[in-house]
Amino acid sequence: MASSSSSLLASLLAFSLLNFIASATNFFQNCEVTWGNGRGQILNNGDLLTLSLDKTSGSGFQSKNEYLFAKIDTQIKLVPGNSAGTVTAYYLSSQGSTHDEIDFEFLGNLSGDPYILHTNVFTQGKGNREQQFYLWFDPTADFHKYSILWNPQHIIFLVDDTPIRDFKNHEKEGIAFPKDQAMRMYSSLWDAEDWATRGGLVKTDWSQAPFTASYRNFNEDACVWSSGSSSCGSGSNSQPWFSQELDSASQATMKAVQNKYMIYNYCTDKKRFPQGLPPECSLP
Ligand SMILES: *[C@@H]1O[C@H](CO)[C@@H](O)[C@H](O)[C@H]1NC(C)=O
Repeated sequence: MASSSSSLLASLLAFSLLNFIASATNFFQNCEVTWGNGRGQILNNGDLLTLSLDKTSGSGFQSKNEYLFAKIDTQIKLVPGNSAGTVTAYYLSSQGSTHDEIDFEFLGNLSGDPYILHTNVFTQGKGNREQQFYLWFDPTADFHKYSILWNPQHIIFLVDDTPIRDFKNHEKEGIAFPKDQAMRMYSSLWDAEDWATRGGLVKTDWSQAPFTASYRNFNEDACVWSSGSSSCGSGSNSQPWFSQELDSASQATMKAVQNKYMIYNYCTDKKRFPQGLPPECSLP
């Protein structure tokens, strides 16, 4: 009895270790620091990546792969203390003037005041779909997981696996949806004291520099796009994320989070859209 349960335990351990290895992050393997002159660093054999910002420059990194649909997870620990004026961006984007883009941006604040999590979706060069949230935890105290699920029917933003936003494919109603341009993951830490904190009222305190954000456990479940073809092939795709959508319980959770933590929604900003709200705003 004892021996069979310990062998069960051993095989469970081996299984989870295998899983871990299969999805383990290695920033050296999957990403590259692209700017910042040494301010972005890959550490601990590739387990950790840090970006920093000082008066001279910010820094950034990107995924080596491009994707045509992906579920991207990253754990991020944001700039602690007085982070006013700083912006940590984490997004998927294609190239060019009619690019698609799926954005998470974290707007810093004075010590003890809340970060804003800013989200946006660009399709064919057109954005203006901002939704902003406060978080239900201090994002500087520890790592939290931020995920973008982009499949042919949905773009879902998740925080610690809780959905906060679901941008649906409404192509049938004539609304563009990103599905033809491959995107890459980008992240950067930069200064935007002109607008980031309380609309630019609170400036960056450079005596606190360098500001540092940390990343770990980057994971890409993706259809990798290379030389004009997708690693998923052209047929249907059996990976669960590819057809994932929110069931009714997850939709209820998302609604509750939005009710409690959303502080800006372009879909209710009638002043900004005097000609009428964008069409997706009135669709279910
Ligand atoms: C910063 O804190 C102020 C005061 O609580 C708040 O109004 C604002 O939304 C917070 N976040 C940012 C990024 O300005």
